[in-house]
Amino acid sequence: MSIETTGATTENSSISLIASHSHITGLGLDEHLQPKETSQGMVGQLNARKACGIVLKMIQQAQIAGRAILIAGPPSTGKTALAMGLSQSLGSDVPFTAVTASELYSKEISKTESLTQCFRKSIGIRIKEETEVIEGEVVEIQIDRSLTGGHKQGKITIRTTDMETIYELGNKMIDELSKEKIVAGDIISIDKANGKITKLGRSFTRARDYDAMGADTKFISCPEGELQVRKEVLHTVSLHEIDVINSRQQGFLALFSGDTGEIRSEVRDQINLKVGEWKEEGKAEIIPGVLFIDEVHMLDIECFSFINRLLEDEFSPIVIMATNRGISKTRGTNYKSPHGLPLDLLDRSIIIKTEKYNEEEIMKILQIRCNEEEVEINIDAMKLLTKIGSETSLRYASNLISVSNLIAKKRRSETVELEDIKRSYLLFLDSSRSVAFLQENESNYIDDDGNVQFGSKVVSGDAMEVDS
Ligand SMILES: Nc1ncnc2c1ncn2[C@@H]1O[C@H](COP(=O)(O)OP(=O)(O)O)[C@@H](O)[C@H]1O
Ligand SMILES: [Mg+2]
Repeated sequence: MSIETTGATTENSSISLIASHSHITGLGLDEHLQPKETSQGMVGQLNARKACGIVLKMIQQAQIAGRAILIAGPPSTGKTALAMGLSQSLGSDVPFTAVTASELYSKEISKTESLTQCFRKSIGIRIKEETEVIEGEVVEIQIDRSLTGGHKQGKITIRTTDMETIYELGNKMIDELSKEKIVAGDIISIDKANGKITKLGRSFTRARDYDAMGADTKFISCPEGELQVRKEVLHTVSLHEIDVINSRQQGFLALFSGDTGEIRSEVRDQINLKVGEWKEEGKAEIIPGVLFIDEVHMLDIECFSFINRLLEDEFSPIVIMATNRGISKTRGTNYKSPHGLPLDLLDRSIIIKTEKYNEEEIMKILQIRCNEEEVEINIDAMKLLTKIGSETSLRYASNLISVSNLIAKKRRSETVELEDIKRSYLLFLDSSRSVAFLQENESNYIDDDGNVQFGSKVVSGDAMEVDS
């Protein structure tokens, strides 16, 4: 069977931009993988960052596939931030998939299928293909439109230093040409297999046509020799993309809608086989990427044992998990274990620990967040915000930034001052005050049985149901 690796362009590379980590651009390490105190948006947490740096190195040298890494630490200590930093340092060529454990349960497909898809999204296949391209300088483009404008046809003249040919143009090619804004004097390459046009630059002979140039115009010389040449092109797709393109019921359109359904295991088996062959023949290179599972304690024992199995697969990414649990029960069992992870999975994991921040670090992080959100804040307000951050949580304090800014704007101030922080602190509860408030006012809320108290009267949950 033949296996396809190209659909249309796939631009749904998972939306990795998580607003609250937007200030993080890497792990902040120097060339010896030593963490700098503050760099690339990262503050403190030096040991964990150093450990992540070593993991990064091992990923880049492909020494670590099939292993798992667990980032463990109290809430708001930068576990997710570290994973984001790592993904940024990996660069765009290594696939990185991030999911939160609970997402795996919220799909229409089974959780094991969901996990399998996540694993296969995190494995890149770099494929070498030979294609035939037409490469040369555009001499002339001539387009005739029919009166209704619906049908177009035309001709394009392309030359090298040695020859010149006229090609007929159809609708699709004309659209491509106008999309890429190709004009006479451009050096272009047309992929014969899919009709894709790439602009390589402008011809030196046109260096004096100032009106047809942008600031970033690249001048190159007109190609020599034949117009049609064979070229090796490299493209990278994930195993999951190959799965979807080749599963007949769905086709590559499913890649855009994300609605891939369950993929039959025979399809996957055949693809694995083929990819294995390509690898042997030197046609493809396998790039193990990273799968990040946040809040991993939300998974149950079935998921964990499935992950164990997937880690032993022929193609496996590096799995990074994050948890804030200490000794706790694994979901779906009665056993307690460290971090709520079953022991066999824990056994194959490298554990990276994150620690609570001191006040100075909290202040630095909050300052970075203020810069990121373009919020001016004075020093007193910053001090109070830091105090709130160290007594409640970094995340809560971080959330108060935008709220306080709105409050400041309302009184027409460009700067957030002490009063604004105080007001937002009173307006919005942090979790511990919320718990205290609930305990004091328990009777006003609906309880687990649906009972609620109005004044002195208790109304049971059954009585409240609306007749339909
Ligand atoms: N070392 C750090 N440097 C910079 N920002 C950090 C650092 N640690 C945490 N943050 C930021 O603080 C907030 C909370 O951290 P987060 O990574 O969500 O914590 P966790 O996942 O451990 O609960 C996020 O906005 C995060 O980007
Ligand atoms: Mg987190």
